Amino acid sequence: MPSVSSSAASHPAAAPRGVDVHPLSPALGAEIRGVDLTRPIDEATFSVIADAWREHLVILFRDQVLSEEDQVRFAQRFGALQGRPRPASMRAETAVKHPEIMLVSNIRENGKPIGSLPDGEMQFHSDMCYIEQPAKGTFLYAIEIPSVGGDTHFLNMYAAYDALPAEIKAKIDGRQAVNVFQYGSTSREGNNPDFDEHPHYTHPMVRTHPDSRRKALFVNRLMTWSIEGMEDAESAALLDALFDHIEQPKFIYEHKWRVGDLLLWDNRCTLHARTDFSDKERRLLRRCVIQGDKPY
Ligand code: SIN
Repeated sequence: MPSVSSSAASHPAAAPRGVDVHPLSPALGAEIRGVDLTRPIDEATFSVIADAWREHLVILFRDQVLSEEDQVRFAQRFGALQGRPRPASMRAETAVKHPEIMLVSNIRENGKPIGSLPDGEMQFHSDMCYIEQPAKGTFLYAIEIPSVGGDTHFLNMYAAYDALPAEIKAKIDGRQAVNVFQYGSTSREGNNPDFDEHPHYTHPMVRTHPDSRRKALFVNRLMTWSIEGMEDAESAALLDALFDHIEQPKFIYEHKWRVGDLLLWDNRCTLHARTDFSDKERRLLRRCVIQGDKPY
């Protein structure tokens, strides 16, 4: 990918020396170099980051050595941290200071995972799309990474929407779908949500991003269960067709983690998924999210 000096990018902010934005794939994603997230970030640098995030949807910072405080401080530049909907009694994390921090890890102590979302592959989803105000942005920091797999794939939902045939757009614009998370579930197959127990919320299938004003698809294989006001068979067939359309390689950036990576993604216009990895290797990442608006 060609490197784009931030001073040459479309935003008017003058780029501080040494801060560069490098696109990661034709679909989405950019790496920002020249920023140390342990240090205070001045307004000029922050506006380069914010502009790049708006343009590229997923931002990577490599080789960061971040404490929990550093990660929280950086995330809070983008908004208020979002609390975790999962009841504290269902969580294992004890080693975090902020209740909003979640460890994503397969490491176990006394047989119990120290974090959430522990094992193996996870299908595409948008964080917390099953609550009224889903997460705006997610910040995920890599502490231990397996030698093979456990990659995170990102999907551009503006592009996926734009590429839909007009008759499908007409069918889904203005429609709502139910999103639900069956805690512990990593794939749709075999899910059978209990709506008395599992958190769920109905959201538009196509949402307008509050900053860019662009339309993005807002459905995903792991958590979007059914389309409101449609017969079950028709809803299932339409959702399957949408999932197959969305998950085309041309809309995807595949991220191979390195220790010290911090990724920031926009849940309002992207999805993410995780590839399988060995249960013989350790994987530990630290996550926090910032609160979003009710989609419209
Ligand atoms: C997540 O969905 O937040 C976790 C992604 C990952 O483990 O790569």
